[in-house]
Amino acid sequence: MIVTARPVLVYGNSVLRKRAKPVTSVSPALKRLADEMLESMYASNGIGLAAPQIGESVRLIVVDVGGEEKRDPRVFFNPEIVSSSGEAVAEEGCLSVPDVWADVTRPETITLKALDYDGKPVELKNLDGLLARCIQHEIDHLEGVLFVDKISATDRLMNEPKLKKMARGAR
Ligand code: NI
Repeated sequence: MIVTARPVLVYGNSVLRKRAKPVTSVSPALKRLADEMLESMYASNGIGLAAPQIGESVRLIVVDVGGEEKRDPRVFFNPEIVSSSGEAVAEEGCLSVPDVWADVTRPETITLKALDYDGKPVELKNLDGLLARCIQHEIDHLEGVLFVDKISATDRLMNEPKLKKMARGAR
């Protein structure tokens, strides 16, 4: 089966602002969508992607924080953070908001519940570091929230021209 990368929607596209629909069962079509998302993410050198970013408003995210040397693809349907603790600040970017990077404060440690690629319920306890951050960023996408909604007023002001330009040319 040939899986091809799909274009990533850019800031200003209304799909990015919609609340995504839950998955009722992990069908072959949804697995294929997950495969396409991984392909699209790798093609853009990203570490995470949410389905709305390729125009599919369903609760599905993919992440891989393993790097090129040690791929670690993960697929989560209906991802849900069931507990979180601590606080951490780190710089983020987003494939849908190209050329913008800014600090975002998020819980440091999370416990995640989801369905995996095979539709099996999983609970991942006490995730932290880049993986925890990436998962939180992607789950925000499912709520129509972008990381630039969470940056400081100063960073927002500084990036406003870029965002306005993006929104004008949004595909
Ligand atoms: Ni993003």
